[in-house]
Amino acid sequence: MGIDQVTNLPLIRTLFYPLNILFTMNRSLIRSFWTQVVPLPEPTGDFTGKTVIVTGANTGLGLEAARHFAKLNASKVILGCRDLEKAEAARRGIQTSLEGSACELETWKVDLGSFSSVQSFCRRAADLERLDVVIENAGLLSHVYHEFEGYERQCTINVISTWLMALLLLPTMRRTSLKFDGEQGKDCLPHLCIVGSNAQFYTTFEQRNEPRIFESLREDGDMFHRYANTKLLSLLVMREVSQMMKREESPRVVLNMVEPGFCISDLLREGTWPWYYKILMAVSKFAIGRTSEMGSRNYIWAATAGTKSHGVYVEDCMLSTPAPIAEGEEGRMLQMKAFSELAEILEGIVPQVTHNI
Ligand SMILES: NC(=O)c1ccc[n+]([C@@H]2O[C@H](COP(=O)([O-])OP(=O)(O)OC[C@H]3O[C@@H](n4cnc5c(N)ncnc54)[C@H](OP(=O)(O)O)[C@@H]3O)[C@@H](O)[C@H]2O)c1
Repeated sequence: MGIDQVTNLPLIRTLFYPLNILFTMNRSLIRSFWTQVVPLPEPTGDFTGKTVIVTGANTGLGLEAARHFAKLNASKVILGCRDLEKAEAARRGIQTSLEGSACELETWKVDLGSFSSVQSFCRRAADLERLDVVIENAGLLSHVYHEFEGYERQCTINVISTWLMALLLLPTMRRTSLKFDGEQGKDCLPHLCIVGSNAQFYTTFEQRNEPRIFESLREDGDMFHRYANTKLLSLLVMREVSQMMKREESPRVVLNMVEPGFCISDLLREGTWPWYYKILMAVSKFAIGRTSEMGSRNYIWAATAGTKSHGVYVEDCMLSTPAPIAEGEEGRMLQMKAFSELAEILEGIVPQVTHNI
């Protein structure tokens, strides 16, 4: 039997993959379609005096989120991007569209394919006077196996570097809360929002039964589910980390996971998709795709959702529930397993970084 060179799956399986999505889907099709076509509420909130970081802000959802924060009076919005030229173009674009805005827009380099780049970025952030909102939006979807830092690159970018950044930024966000909460009678509750994906509803996450999940993701087996598996892994980690943070009487930083919905963006940029997948995606985008601006409204909602959203999966500008695989006793065991493996990897990169939780 032939093998599809892109997905590393037997051809017969890749040909029927779009149908397979429907069968492995863990939520109602009607719900998925309906929520996509109903417009989300216009973002509200006032970020006056606040400093916001958005990663992957040069395009797509990150760019639109950065624009919203600037429009809602943030004092400073930092566009964390791997390509500073693209970041500068995005900064100029936002400035032009918001003429007269007093928001300070900065472009900082960060490549989530490199652990040292993430560390330099976070060292720089530690010098900020305050850090109120972080939207960890940078992410990659690919069917092609490549490694960054010894792991398949979606695993590196969507999980390991994302969480390295989260744990390295947490002390700066806590310091912000301690310093500014109650100042001039205003609350200061920083929000750390990790961008997830409802792709988690379309995977059975076979690697969960492996003795070591991250090791098994070093193999170039089933690349069709890789993106979904990395986003699910990140969700499991978010649930465990948020519980660990709850040990403090009240979390001084809110941690949640936000899903923007199915949006029109450059996410499928790699262009190595099998033809039938391209057709399926083009038709779906046309029929139900949200604009990046519409999807980014979820980020603003998550950044102002408050303590009720701590440890919660947020979508459609509401608190939601994740895939059944992450729920119940199995989900709890799985989140502990995912976190303990990741903790070992992160400690290998920055010793004692998990003490920041
Ligand atoms: N679009 C959707 O339907 C959808 C649905 C659910 C979740 N999401 C999630 O939403 C987030 C944004 O996606 P999008 O749709 O806006 O996609 P996008 O247009 O492809 O934007 C992705 C952003 O991530 C950046 N990025 C990728 N690899 C990076 C790296 N190694 N280091 C630093 N930045 C990196 C990209 O930078 P470059 O431009 O330099 O490559 C780009 O700025 C992702 O986490 C994605 O998984 C999207």
